[in-house]
Amino acid sequence: MATNHELMARREAAVPRGVGHAHPVFAAHAENAEFWDVEGNRYIDFAGGIAVLNTGHRHPKVMAAVAKQMEHFTHTCFQVAPYESYIALAERLNALAPINGAAKTIFFTTGSEALENAIKIARAATGRSGIITFAGGYHGRTMMTMAMTGKVLPYKKKFGPLPAEIYHVPFPHQPFGVTVEDSLRAIEMLFRADIEPERTAAIVLEPVQGEGGFIPAPTELLEALRKLCDRHGILLVVDEVQTGFARTGKMFGIEHSEVKPDIMTIAKSLAGGFPLSGVIGRADIMDAAEPGGLGGTYAGSPIACAAALAVLDVIDEEKLIDRANIIGERMKSRLESISLRNNTVPIAAIRGPGAMTAFDVVTTRGTNEPDADMTKKIIAKAREHGLILLSCGVYGNAIRLLVPLTVSDRLLDEGLEILEQSLAA
Ligand SMILES: Cc1ncc(COP(=O)(O)O)c(C=O)c1O
Repeated sequence: MATNHELMARREAAVPRGVGHAHPVFAAHAENAEFWDVEGNRYIDFAGGIAVLNTGHRHPKVMAAVAKQMEHFTHTCFQVAPYESYIALAERLNALAPINGAAKTIFFTTGSEALENAIKIARAATGRSGIITFAGGYHGRTMMTMAMTGKVLPYKKKFGPLPAEIYHVPFPHQPFGVTVEDSLRAIEMLFRADIEPERTAAIVLEPVQGEGGFIPAPTELLEALRKLCDRHGILLVVDEVQTGFARTGKMFGIEHSEVKPDIMTIAKSLAGGFPLSGVIGRADIMDAAEPGGLGGTYAGSPIACAAALAVLDVIDEEKLIDRANIIGERMKSRLESISLRNNTVPIAAIRGPGAMTAFDVVTTRGTNEPDADMTKKIIAKAREHGLILLSCGVYGNAIRLLVPLTVSDRLLDEGLEILEQSLAA
């Protein structure tokens, strides 16, 4: 088999540089919370394919469900000949989602596509165009979601002009000096300076900013946005693509508050590694688009629907919501003890609900001064010792831990030990 180095040379010749890699290692096979590269090196996976593998690589129940589906058919297109698994999955999600009243769900393939369609639905339901999102938020790489994403580099550079009618306001975060009041005042200013509330279709936010650095939306913000939306007939759209499916110690991140969104977007860990996304929302809103206005050739693939039904069973049977809280506590207490050592790289702001855990790498102990270069070095060092990590955050100095929730304590501790060694100065 080719080496990582040989494959990288072929990749550079054959694939554009616009798609990056966190790690220059080529996957050969994977099992639960580990994978092996083409040279036989083994890695503990604290990235989970960017939050896709809450139920781990190749969960046996997910594999079995997919194999069974493949014996029957792999694709008909839901718009040509529908199938029961799509309906059954929609029914289960409608019952699970914290939406007021009756809910309906439609499926797509990627997270970006879910957000695109959430906007289409919100516009159809309100007859309005404006979309308010938050600085530091991430919603995808398609034209609309790129514009909604609140980070210029690397997502928007060279790709303009961007779609109109998208407005960003600051996201509350104490180290950046932004309060909930600041965010709400910015929306008020927006309503004076740029767009009237009567032309605003939706406010879109992540319950915990993911790519933005694992920064939870304060409950007071969510409650105030709910009130604001109710006052002006604006829809509250919660992007659960990264927070969904037990990661935060609840099924959905928004459930850490009492706030009920009008629309939710889901993807990533929904289908345990198979491409599936969805939009869940109040039934009256979801029915606003005309027949034929929504869909896609692969949207709601029967293979992915079978996988997702198995994922929901696994979350239930293996009590992964409780497990997320246990894993999160274990990771955070280990990080707290590392942060007290005086012979490691300084780390700060250990955070995140459940197992949506992150910390910052800073230049000096006791400060918030980001150290993005050191973050890259730590991630490279951890990989050399067999641990796959990912960074995130507006300043690229946060390290996020997205270990499968099915990880054993032994493997989790082994990964945390490598993390501690990689942080040792
Ligand atoms: C919160 C959030 N929304 C949307 C997306 C886009 O999903 P996808 O990459 O599947 O298009 C992501 C991806 O990281 C995400 O984290």
